[in-house]
Amino acid sequence: MFQPSFCLRGNCSVKNLYLYMPEKLGTIAPEIYGYFSEHIGGVIYDGIWVGEHSSIPNIRGFRSALVEKLKQINPSVLRWPGGCFAETYDWRDGIGPRDKRPVRINWWHQNDNRYEPNEVGTDEFVDFCRLIGAQPYFAANITATTPLDIRDWIDYCNTPHGVTSYEKLREANGNPEPFNIKYWGVGNETWGGGGNMTPEVYAHEFRKYAVIMNNSAPGLELIGSGANHSDYNWTKGFMEEFSNSERHMNGFSLHYYCGSSGNPTQFSIDEWYQLLSQAASIEYCLRRHWSYICGFGMERCAKLVIDEWGTWHPDGSGPSKGYNLFEQQNTIRDAAVAALTLNIFNNNCDKIKMATIAQLINNLQSLFLSSGEHFITTPTYHVFDLYKGHQGGSAIKSTIENNEDIAFANPHNGHGNHIQKISVSASHKNNKMTVTIANLSADTSENIRLIPVGAVLDENVEIGMLNHMDYHAHNTFENPENVKAVYKKVILTDSIINVPAASVISITADIR
Ligand code: AHR
Repeated sequence: MFQPSFCLRGNCSVKNLYLYMPEKLGTIAPEIYGYFSEHIGGVIYDGIWVGEHSSIPNIRGFRSALVEKLKQINPSVLRWPGGCFAETYDWRDGIGPRDKRPVRINWWHQNDNRYEPNEVGTDEFVDFCRLIGAQPYFAANITATTPLDIRDWIDYCNTPHGVTSYEKLREANGNPEPFNIKYWGVGNETWGGGGNMTPEVYAHEFRKYAVIMNNSAPGLELIGSGANHSDYNWTKGFMEEFSNSERHMNGFSLHYYCGSSGNPTQFSIDEWYQLLSQAASIEYCLRRHWSYICGFGMERCAKLVIDEWGTWHPDGSGPSKGYNLFEQQNTIRDAAVAALTLNIFNNNCDKIKMATIAQLINNLQSLFLSSGEHFITTPTYHVFDLYKGHQGGSAIKSTIENNEDIAFANPHNGHGNHIQKISVSASHKNNKMTVTIANLSADTSENIRLIPVGAVLDENVEIGMLNHMDYHAHNTFENPENVKAVYKKVILTDSIINVPAASVISITADIR
């Protein structure tokens, strides 16, 4: 359904959306539009990698359809190899002739009985990143390997042609030019699977690894392992211990999942709102972590890297029916979570260096689902497509006049809760304005009038819309385009646009 300027479902009032050109919020780092890819379930094997000899169309072993679809949404950064997987990963297992590589116990093998064949290692992953045009972001194992092991990995990746033994090994493996891996995570979830540390202990570990890592190659950006969700004590404890040290940190991570206990494709209206209200709470959460970071004077070196975020539904709803660990279906509700979250990231871009949704394919909130020759995009993919104009843009303040609070009952405990109906963000780049709006109401449309302040927008605009009559809608191998964004060029009458219930839209207009 595509209706740029008519009333839908009986709601004909108009709300003003002010776009304040002079009120700049910062630059939206393209890296905020990144993804996470772990050696877990079907992410790497079957998802990204099908093998060079597969009958599935591939480029040097990588699923061609995935490469093609990714290129359309301007991938910026891809995190790898975990997650928890990183904590037992030895990078040396993944280099050299593929048929000679060892098969190892994967971190997740007790959950799914699968082992790690190491067919995809450093060289392959970098090749994939180059194919799609994304920067790699490596997670270093600081639980089960030493600083020297990580030094050697950096040496293998970044030392220029013809210098060290590890560099020569890279060359022998077919890559004379350095990979120049810039982003390195110093551990993952060090409060949990990544070492079960206290924040104080981790601060010491970080210093130790950071000094060796920084000494190994110039220009690295090291990301500290930050808090889970609202664990503010982690941020506070780490900063207390770390802030007076020699600083070698370039970002501090945050993991934030929105969990649902129900069925990912069959949910009540209250469950729709409950999940969205969890997603909305990331704004309070990231601002509070940020205030601790600033409180310790660390805002220059510890911008937030939200390197795992998204929805986490119960297992088993994806096409593999539980074979691929954590694989889940993805509906309009997940798309609304992505849209709301990315609007929050845009509006807080001064605090955020990078964000990578978990995960790219066949896992938690994925952009793609695949199985053998089958491959589909999810509603979440289309949100990344609608929002791509924001990458690298200058975010500006935008406000909806009289934004409504929608009341609902928390399905878990019956307690009253509420959520704001309209979520919005706006940015401009190269004389083009991008405005993205999510209508979080499950059943009421909204007419929105764009009111630019300090600029004039051309009335010829491009509108992209992700919408479906049924907010449970999703894509399947049998019906791959049930949910997709539709783009149209329209003339905006009176600057008014109708935003149907449970929809996400983007508006792109020239600034005159
Ligand atoms: O994304 C799945 C897992 O969730 C990651 O491996 C871990 O870091 C997090 O707990």
